[in-house]
Amino acid sequence: MPKRVVLAYSGGLDTSVAVKWMIEELGVEVVAVAVDVGQASEDFEVVRERALAAGAVEAEVVDCRAEFARDFVMPALKANAMYEGRYPLVSALSRPVIVQHLVAAARRHNADAVAHGCTGKGNDQVRFEVSTRALAPDLEVIAPVRGWGMTREDCIAYADRHGIPITATKEKLYSIDDNLWGRAIECGPMEDPWAVPPPGVWSLTLPTQTEPRDLVIGFEAGIPVAVDGERLEPVELIDKVGSIVGSYGWGRIDMVENRRVGIKSRETYECPASLALILAHADLESITLERDLAREKARLEPRYAELIYDGLWFSPLKQALDAFVDESQHYVTGEVRLRLEPNSCLVTGRRSEHSLYDYALATYDAADAFHHEDSAGFVRLWGLGIETWAKRQSSLGDLA
Ligand code: ARG
Repeated sequence: MPKRVVLAYSGGLDTSVAVKWMIEELGVEVVAVAVDVGQASEDFEVVRERALAAGAVEAEVVDCRAEFARDFVMPALKANAMYEGRYPLVSALSRPVIVQHLVAAARRHNADAVAHGCTGKGNDQVRFEVSTRALAPDLEVIAPVRGWGMTREDCIAYADRHGIPITATKEKLYSIDDNLWGRAIECGPMEDPWAVPPPGVWSLTLPTQTEPRDLVIGFEAGIPVAVDGERLEPVELIDKVGSIVGSYGWGRIDMVENRRVGIKSRETYECPASLALILAHADLESITLERDLAREKARLEPRYAELIYDGLWFSPLKQALDAFVDESQHYVTGEVRLRLEPNSCLVTGRRSEHSLYDYALATYDAADAFHHEDSAGFVRLWGLGIETWAKRQSSLGDLA
């Protein structure tokens, strides 16, 4: 049985109850670690004090926003990573960085286990546990919420009984998880996939702007580095793009996705920054990646997204795909112009010093440098096999 456990602590009802519950039921010491990945509305000092009030022997807050942006979000952006073609992996990307810090804290505090507050139905338990085993196979993983069989009401009663200061109410409308890269809102009325999400669901994409505007994103080697010519670090850049794009009411996703554990789940997301940056990045690739490289990359991108979704951030295939993606990004440098209008974000231009777009080849004007005479022989050979087939075997010829 473990003696000291490092808990991924959010400050919410479940993880607050989990602190006390593990002390009482498992006889362990609990070190609470809250990881700041850019949650919008968290006061981490309050979170820390709540963990101590719940009985934690120690409580730490780790600000890993810069690290999250640099080492997790940016690789995903370079890969245009979207699960099932639509979801930019907001929650899925944060779990491995959280686990990295849990494991580091476990080492610092001489703990022999880590714990999380995930239920048994979701993807996050998979990400926590598989990532932990990848980084620290010797640590035990405890998942109190999965096994304790308490309802939300039971948890509130438990917190009251033990003097745990929580702010939860009996009726919890949604389950929300957010970070720099966006916001996931599940449950409540949205469990009916036909139900329109109630207006209270949205907070990052409330339309307040009506005046159209352009937004120019500058990239270097696949990484966004500037907005309208102003150089910004990843965290600031993501924040800025998110608040501008979100103010046009753009960046919402409403989908039914396939969880790793076999459940179809109705999900709503607000991802103004991630969707706009992926849109811009992929567009810049259209002029900077050679055709075969672009097509092969596009073939691998969904696989890369699946690995992240399925908790395999720390895995040999993911590492190998990272090497491929990094190699592809050397020339993804340049600018993309986005046009923002209410509920709309469109690319209206792209340019790069490494652009493979050749005006002299593309133009139909006088500047045309394309060798038209080369085409006749090329097309003849291109169709030669089909011509031979048509003469000897095909029955299509006389249909016309
Ligand atoms: N369905 C999304 C995912 O699996 C969002 C999960 C949100 N997590 C949460 N605890 N509410 O990545």
